[in-house]
Amino acid sequence: MTTMTNMQFDFLCDLVRKESAIVIERGKEYLVESRLAPIARREGLANVGELVQRLVSSPNLPLRGVIVDAMTTNETSFFRDIHPWQALREEILPTLFKARAATRRLNVWCAACSSGQEPYSLAMLLREDFPKESNSWDIKIAATDLSDTMVNRCREGKFSQLEVNRGLPAAMLMRYFQHEGMDWRMDDSLRKILDVRIANLVVPSSLPQMGGIDLVMIRNVLIYFDDATKAKILTDIRGRMRNDAYLMLGSSEVTTGATSGFARHQTGKTIYFRPGP
Ligand SMILES: C[S@@+](CC[C@H](N)C(=O)[O-])C[C@H]1O[C@@H](n2cnc3c(N)ncnc32)[C@H](O)[C@@H]1O
Repeated sequence: MTTMTNMQFDFLCDLVRKESAIVIERGKEYLVESRLAPIARREGLANVGELVQRLVSSPNLPLRGVIVDAMTTNETSFFRDIHPWQALREEILPTLFKARAATRRLNVWCAACSSGQEPYSLAMLLREDFPKESNSWDIKIAATDLSDTMVNRCREGKFSQLEVNRGLPAAMLMRYFQHEGMDWRMDDSLRKILDVRIANLVVPSSLPQMGGIDLVMIRNVLIYFDDATKAKILTDIRGRMRNDAYLMLGSSEVTTGATSGFARHQTGKTIYFRPGP
């Protein structure tokens, strides 16, 4: 049961698409209701229909942002999917470290990092498997997301017991986290490596200016966009990468990569992309 009229639902879908490129289709009314009901309550309104009506009749910028934020899907976990991390450890990072030996500099971008499990997994992997380089090289990891809430969480580096139970080896939990109340906080030395900021993938001016990116992880976010938007984002990202850089997508997104100036490669079960024909 939805409390929105069709017109209100369409208005909301247009708003979310304009602000984030996320496509919500008819049939997803239940999802919108469940995500926006707490906001309607907080605003003292009877239901989501009234919340959308408020936006229709008086465009309220802060509320727009809150609504778009609530419509993002932030599912993530430490070392998500396992295999890509093996490829990073065994092939991608060793190749990059060899190629950048002269400058001893590495620029990584985790686009759509959600609450931070992905960039922190990378930071831990670097510390564990490449201690020499992670101690002495200039390694930058930009971690960005559209969602204000997620960016704040990533910056804070605080995770619940449930979150650290998902994908994080116990030895790493002990080595890189401190207990804080009911939660676990990431060690400051790793938090410092990350440059965490808000960036909207469809607003190129908001994206990090890193001067030649070596590795882009943009995983499990392109699925929310239409094909034209995916292609545009990948073309833009291609322009920010060095010619021998690496691009990693989510496992269900790999069909997208080949279309926008990238060549597809495979190692073990992992598909990755590099600039190419
Ligand atoms: C499912 S999470 C993926 C997290 C992580 N990359 C992973 O694979 O585990 C998708 C993230 O994309 C972000 N997102 C959605 N639209 C975005 C946009 N237009 N620009 C930047 N981030 C966006 C959401 O806020 C959300 O945190």
